Amino acid sequence: LSDRIKTPRGTSDVLGDDALAREQLERHAKRILERAGYARIETPTFESTALFARGVGESTDVVQKEMYTFDDGGGNSITLRPEGTAPVCRAYLENGMHKLPQPVKLWYLGAFFRSERPQHGRYRQFWQVGAEAIGSDDPAVDAELIVLLAEILEAIGVQQVRLVLSSLGTPDARAGYKAELQAYLRAHEHDLSADVRDRIDLNPLRAFDADHPGTKRVMEAAPRMLDRLGDEDREHFETVRRLLDGVGLAYEVDTTLVRGLDYYTRTVFEFTSDALGAQSGVGGGGRYDGLIEQIGGPHTPGMGWAAGVERMLLTSPSPPTAPPPLDLYVAYAKPEYKDTAFRLAADARRAGHSAQLELGGRSVKGTFKQADRAGARYVAILGDEGTALRDMESGEQRDVETDTVMHHITHGL
Ligand code: HAM
Repeated sequence: LSDRIKTPRGTSDVLGDDALAREQLERHAKRILERAGYARIETPTFESTALFARGVGESTDVVQKEMYTFDDGGGNSITLRPEGTAPVCRAYLENGMHKLPQPVKLWYLGAFFRSERPQHGRYRQFWQVGAEAIGSDDPAVDAELIVLLAEILEAIGVQQVRLVLSSLGTPDARAGYKAELQAYLRAHEHDLSADVRDRIDLNPLRAFDADHPGTKRVMEAAPRMLDRLGDEDREHFETVRRLLDGVGLAYEVDTTLVRGLDYYTRTVFEFTSDALGAQSGVGGGGRYDGLIEQIGGPHTPGMGWAAGVERMLLTSPSPPTAPPPLDLYVAYAKPEYKDTAFRLAADARRAGHSAQLELGGRSVKGTFKQADRAGARYVAILGDEGTALRDMESGEQRDVETDTVMHHITHGL
C-alpha cells in the first residue's frame, strides 16, 4: 500500500463534524452579512496572472513566492487565486457594477491557494470568508465592515480575539514616509537582518514585521506612518475610530501594523487570536482606494476584509453537531420489494420528508440498528404482509398498506 496516493502537502479533506462546523460558520457569515446588505459573489478559482501581479503587487511575498502559476496550454499565464479582493474588483469592472447604487457590497466564501510552508493554521489550500464594499470612501464603510467581522467572530465563538487598527494614509503621503523610513533603515543598516537589508528599496515597511532581534530594536525608534498622515487621512482615521468607539468595539492602534498585500490605503486592521500561536491572524483587511485604477479601471475607492475559515474554526469551540433529522428509513424483507421500497423513499422525499433507503444489504436486525444510528423517526420494512412500520420513538409497530406509509409518518401510527 506504500504507493497509495495522498492529499498534496498543505491540503486536507473536510468531513464529518468538521464539515458540519463549516456549514454552521457559513450560515453565521451569510446571516450577518446579508442582513447588512452584502450580496454573494463567486469569482473563478483561477485568473490571469497579471491580475494579481498588478493588483496585489509585485513586491509582496504572495506574488513573489507563493502563487501557483501555470500556462493554460494556449500561452496564457494563469494563477490559482491567492486572495479575493483583486478578483472582486475585476468582477466589479467587468460586470459594469459602477452603474449600480454605490457602494456595491459583496461577500464570498471559497478556496484560496498559496504555496507557503505548511504549519498549524497555515495551509496551501485554505478557505476564506470575505466582504468588499466598492464605490464609497465614507469612513462609515470601514467601521461597518470591521464591526461585521467582529460580529461573525463572536457568533462563531472565536476565542481570545484582539483587534488592531492603523492607517497607511494615501500613496503620496506613504511615498514621502517610505523615503524617510528608507533613509532611517540605511542609517542603521549594520543592525538589520540580511533579509530586511535586501528589501530596503523594495519594501521597507516589512521591517516592522521582522522577528530578528537587532531589527526589532531598530524598528522601535523608527518613524511611524501614523505620525505622517495628511489632514484628510487623519480625519478619516479619527472618524473610523469614533464610530468603533460608539458601538463599544475595543481595538488597539498599532502603528507597526503591516499587511502582506500592497493595495492598502488609509485604514488597515487585523483580528488576531492568541489561541492560534504563530499564525495569529484570524482575519484582516483595509481600504484599497487605488486598486481598481491599478487593474485598469477609473478611480474607485474600496474597502474589505477576509477571514480564514480554518483559523476561525481552530480558535472556536466545536459546535454541537447533530445529524440532520430523518423522517423515514425504508428497507425491504425480500429482493422483490426493492423497486417498491425505492419508489417509496423517492416519493417521501418528493413530498418534503427526509427519507433514506437501505442500501447496505442489511438484515432486518441490521436495518433497525442502522436506522437508529441515522436518527430515523420511522422505519418501513416492505414484505409479504405489506409494510411493517415502526415508530422508533415509542417502539410501536404495525403492518400497514404501503400506500398509507406517508399518511402515517405525517399523522402518526
Ligand atoms: P490576508 O491577510 O492575506 O488578506 O488573508 C486573510 C486571512 O486569510 C488571514 O487572516 C488568514 O486567516 C487567512 N489565510 C491567509 N493565508 C492563509 C494560509 N496560507 N493558510 C490558512 N489561512 C490563511 C487577504 O487575503 C485580503 N484579500 C483581505 C482583504 C479583503 N483586504 C481587503 N479586502
